[in-house]
Amino acid sequence: LMDLLSTGLNVRRLVLDRRAKGNTIGLVPTMGALHQGHLELIKTAKAENDWVVCSIFVNPTQFNNPEDLARYPRTLEADRKLLESVGCDAVFAPSVEEMYPAAPDLKMDFGLLETVMEGAFRPGHFNGVGIVVAKLFNIVQPDQAYFGQKDLQQTAVIRSLVRNLSFPIALKICPTVRESDGLAMSSRNVRLSPEERALAPEIYKTLSACKAALLGGAPAKEVLSRHAENLDRSGFNTEYLELVDVVTLQAIDGLKSEGGNALCIATHLGPVRLIDNLVF
Ligand code: PAJ
Repeated sequence: LMDLLSTGLNVRRLVLDRRAKGNTIGLVPTMGALHQGHLELIKTAKAENDWVVCSIFVNPTQFNNPEDLARYPRTLEADRKLLESVGCDAVFAPSVEEMYPAAPDLKMDFGLLETVMEGAFRPGHFNGVGIVVAKLFNIVQPDQAYFGQKDLQQTAVIRSLVRNLSFPIALKICPTVRESDGLAMSSRNVRLSPEERALAPEIYKTLSACKAALLGGAPAKEVLSRHAENLDRSGFNTEYLELVDVVTLQAIDGLKSEGGNALCIATHLGPVRLIDNLVF
């Protein structure tokens, strides 16, 4: 049966016990409201580790918008059943007081990564992500930690965190899981109205069309601005649509070699902010 833990102390006890048995440990950090994208991370972690912990914590320090935090879906009971169904070994679902007995006075700055896309549009977001992921790494001390490519810039931030603070943890990045119409799975998708949900697949269609145009040799600036305008005409409110270097996440005006490019988007549909990306 799956262990349900709410304190760091109890996690550490179980982890020490597993380590003594020679088990390898995998960690999958989440904010809950689990969907198939999360479950694929768990399944991959299960295949590669003896013991897998999923953390569920809606981390207040990474929300720059209080309304987004208040409306973030919380479905712990359903999450628990889903995790059990894929063979997850333990869930760590701490309270805010457990994770933050006091507001942290440490600030994390990820340099150039902070200046673009999510870093630019969500001030303080990556500070909160960095702090909570460092805490989770210290509490669980996993051998391997699993993250989704869906949050591409977050994977770059966490890579920087691991490097800068010498965490002895291997990062595993898993592909984006999509609905059959192409929409990237997200805990926020449940907040879309039926009309917005019907429109939402345009995000992935836009990324795919931009990729095809760029590979066909069309100038990046023109392709990106035309597609962003098209989206906004059909009811989106787009924050950015950018072609970036997949490693540095800095904007580029032409394609690099294969595998070095990422198209990244953040766009609002009604009250819901959605992000997606394509790496090619
Ligand atoms: P959350 O949005 O719950 O996502 C948890 C993990 O699932 C992240 O690594 C994310 O990239 C991955 N994920 C989400 N949707 C996915 C999809 N459609 N396909 C594949 N992977 C997907 O990201 C966070 O939580 C938080 O910032 C966190 C890292 C837990 C720190 O609080």
